[in-house]
Amino acid sequence: MNIQAVYHTRTGHSRKIAGAIARALGLEAKDIKDWPEDGQADLLFIVGGIYGGRSDTKLLNFISRLKPGSVARAVLITSCASGKDGQAQVRQALEGQGVPVGKREFICPGNFLFFRRGRPNQKDLADAADFALRVAGKA
Ligand SMILES: Cc1cc2nc3c(=O)[nH]c(=O)nc-3n(C[C@H](O)[C@H](O)[C@H](O)COP(=O)(O)O)c2cc1C
Repeated sequence: MNIQAVYHTRTGHSRKIAGAIARALGLEAKDIKDWPEDGQADLLFIVGGIYGGRSDTKLLNFISRLKPGSVARAVLITSCASGKDGQAQVRQALEGQGVPVGKREFICPGNFLFFRRGRPNQKDLADAADFALRVAGKA
């Protein structure tokens, strides 16, 4: 199975999380900027943050540029200060493109101002990696 992981980040947390899941799965996490024109995945992990209650437009634009049929299934991993906001717009954009999205989304606390100081921490990264291994059937 061709498993890939991409991220978009403003403050570095999504890169850290994507790196942790990539290490666990034995692959290289890609910044969305580096996703190749002809990129393909049977399972694509998408790691992103929440800003003012929304996903970053750059991540939504990345999804709108995915070639039809290039991604068989996506799973979302979200970094946010609330620890409960999912990437609803990303999910909707993927489904609009005909990409099935795993119901379960891993939500990882991420530091912002004085909230969630020190997060994501080592345990958060290990939990994200465990989640990815389970989704990929490698746990
Ligand atoms: C400008 C800005 C706005 C944010 N707004 C929210 C928000 O509405 N809800 C939330 O839970 N976290 C919010 N956060 C916190 C981020 O989602 C959190 O820091 C996340 O880990 C950022 O991921 P990144 O480091 O990959 O960019 C915001 C952070 C920034 C910088």
